[in-house]
Amino acid sequence: MQAYKYTHPLLISIILVLVGNSTRLPAQEIQSTCIECHGLLEDEMKAPVDSFANDVHNRPGLGCVGCHGGDNTSDDMLESMSEAKGFIGTPGALAIPELCSKCHADPSYMKTFNPGLPTDQYSKYLTSVHGQKNEEGDTMVAHCSSCHSAHGIRPARNPLSSVYDKNISATCASCHNDSSYMAPYDIPTDQVEDYRKSVHGAALLEDDDLGAPACNDCHGNHGAIPPDAESIDKVCGLCHNNNMVDFEKSTHADYFSVLESPACETCHSNHLIEAPGTEMLSGEEPVCGQCHFEDDGTGALEAAKLMASRIDSLENAIAEAEGRLEEADQKGLFVNNGLFVLKDARQRAFKARTAVHTFQADSVVNMTAAGFEQVAEARNIARELLDNYVFRRKGLAISVVVLLILAVAIWVKVKRIESRQKH
Ligand code: HEC
Ligand code: HEC
Ligand code: HEC
Ligand code: HEC
Ligand code: HEC
Ligand code: HEC
Ligand code: HEC
Ligand code: HEC
Ligand code: HEC
Repeated sequence: MQAYKYTHPLLISIILVLVGNSTRLPAQEIQSTCIECHGLLEDEMKAPVDSFANDVHNRPGLGCVGCHGGDNTSDDMLESMSEAKGFIGTPGALAIPELCSKCHADPSYMKTFNPGLPTDQYSKYLTSVHGQKNEEGDTMVAHCSSCHSAHGIRPARNPLSSVYDKNISATCASCHNDSSYMAPYDIPTDQVEDYRKSVHGAALLEDDDLGAPACNDCHGNHGAIPPDAESIDKVCGLCHNNNMVDFEKSTHADYFSVLESPACETCHSNHLIEAPGTEMLSGEEPVCGQCHFEDDGTGALEAAKLMASRIDSLENAIAEAEGRLEEADQKGLFVNNGLFVLKDARQRAFKARTAVHTFQADSVVNMTAAGFEQVAEARNIARELLDNYVFRRKGLAISVVVLLILAVAIWVKVKRIESRQKH
């Protein structure tokens, strides 16, 4: 009698006849007895219908039967959900990837609905740690519905989708941030917290910078494997191309590879990436100090200090010149030429920070040298503007004094003439 647990099917059929299609269900695009009947049930038997109103599969030709099978034209519960009509019941974690992929891995079928949609999700999934463990019978790892949901599936570009850029970290967090859920596994559960505190997390989640990476930009959408030491620079290089190119051309690309030190991660970490600064080169614990020590014969720490001091001095010089230009601006002087030159200098400072990744102090020194020249030019412009201003001010003051003396002299003269006439 298991199937009768909720409501007697005969009763439901009677209700269906009585209320017809006027039951107040969420707007559905398709006519289906699955939806009609489940809409009258309760809790987890009704929930799929409520969520399905906005599901991308809620359209003719797909619908409930697309995944569950069965007959969506029969009012009869047993017939509608009969094995004879292909009904599969509730698919379990191990069956879901193949279930979704019977359509999603079939290019000729998918083309008839949405020709632009890739059909490689399943093959990539099988290469991921999730997919491999799922294949081995592990029901805890993520399967298609863990990330996409089962009945509220939306296109990835939809801001309400569970895999939309800004929502993805919360989706991964449902397992990876849950230390009791992840207890059977030997991996940390700090990725999400760390990511949220990082420059990337802040940029995406707080500043709406959709260019900043979410979990899937580094791990792939479906091929969730941690990048290995050899390929991390390629992952970061997707967005930080210049850093990657400098690093790969440097002698250190080979050194890192021999030492099996992951490229960018060795200095920047993977999830808790912070805004870098020169303290990474000359602070208490310079990043170079992971492999180098004072007087190790490579000159590394000396090179690091030199790079830091050049970058710092250039940035201080820029700030100082900017202050002078601001002073001139407040006096109403035309400072645009100066600001323009400073912009170039700032660009140089920026490039000098990137040039750190050549590991050559020379390239940082050369990059800053041009910047210092531009700062000098900007300072000259500011000085000339301010000198001219003082000169003009002095001129004005002198003429005012002369005019005043003249005015007083005339007044005295007039008074004298007046008093003479009175007498
Ligand atoms: C006339 C009512 C009725 C119709 C029509 C109907 N269902 Fe059901 N369905 C039920 C009831 C009642 C249950 C709960 C039965 C139980 O507890 O075993 C159920 C259970 C289910 C389950 C969970 C079953 C399991 O074995 O885990 C799924 C999945 C399901 N229905 C999908 C569908 C789909 C898809 C259709 C359309 C092809 C459909 N249903 C049509 C009433 C209906
Ligand atoms: C894209 C595939 C897909 C479609 C379409 C779909 N389902 Fe499901 N359904 C699933 C999966 C996967 C599960 C099991 C996932 C889970 O554990 O939530 C499931 C579970 C269920 C369950 C069992 C819920 C429970 O908590 O025991 C019911 C009932 C159900 N679906 C009904 C429906 C109905 C009714 C429709 C149409 C409105 C529908 N499904 C459309 C994939 C689908
Ligand atoms: C670990 C989470 C995760 C799992 C597991 C997962 N997906 Fe995805 N899926 C994503 C993300 C993230 C995106 C893309 C978001 C974007 O484009 O920004 C995506 C995108 C998609 C798309 C849109 C087209 C595309 O490839 O970009 C489809 C279709 C899709 N997934 C189907 C599946 C299927 C089928 C499975 C199971 C074989 C699956 N997904 C498993 C996270 C996942
Ligand atoms: C019966 C075939 C079929 C099954 C089974 C199926 N899908 Fe789909 N799915 C489609 C079609 C067709 C589309 C495209 C609809 C459109 O774009 O109008 C789609 C669209 C999607 C999208 C939106 C892609 C995008 O970004 O535009 C996602 C995500 C998705 N399906 C995930 C799943 C998941 C997860 C499962 C399994 C739980 C699943 N699908 C099962 C046929 C299916
Ligand atoms: C349903 C829970 C669940 C969800 C959701 C999930 N994962 Fe996982 N993930 C796991 C489990 C369990 C493992 C297996 C851990 C192991 O074996 O070390 C795993 C493994 C991984 C690994 C490999 C770790 C290793 O080296 O062993 C990566 C990377 C990963 N997940 C990333 C992601 C990302 C990114 C997302 C979101 C897009 C995500 N996961 C969503 C449960 C989940
Ligand atoms: C900027 C790129 C980047 C982003 C964004 C990112 N990861 Fe990672 N992740 C990595 C790298 C690189 C590793 C590899 C660490 C190693 O092998 O040294 C890694 C490793 C992992 C692992 C394996 C276990 C571990 O901690 O070493 C898991 C699980 C994981 N990431 C999940 C996530 C989740 C969940 C998110 C989103 C909250 C995320 N990652 C965001 C780059 C990234
Ligand atoms: C999908 C593109 C993308 C990927 C992949 C990516 N980043 Fe970023 N990264 C950004 C964006 C965008 C910012 C700017 C955030 C901001 O400061 O507003 C940023 C900022 C940074 C910063 C801070 C820069 C500064 O001047 O403050 C560092 C350091 C950084 N990323 C390192 C990495 C490393 C290391 C990796 C690989 C493990 C990586 N990024 C992967 C896009 C990306
Ligand atoms: C992961 C380890 C590692 C890190 C981190 C590292 N180096 Fe090196 N570096 C090496 C190795 C290995 C050598 C070769 C030593 C030798 O030849 O004896 C080297 C050599 C050098 C040399 C000598 C010239 C050359 O290219 O062979 C300089 C200069 C140098 N490093 C600068 C730096 C600076 C600056 C930093 C920090 C920004 C740094 N290194 C960080 C491993 C590292
Ligand atoms: C040996 C340590 C080290 C390695 C390896 C390293 N970086 Fe850096 N990175 C630094 C230091 C030090 C700075 C800070 C320079 C400054 O601000 O003065 C920095 C700054 C940055 C910046 C901000 C400045 C800019 O160029 O926009 C980004 C982005 C960045 N690194 C990305 C990467 C990427 C991507 C990789 C891998 C290809 C990488 N880094 C490898 C040490 C390293």
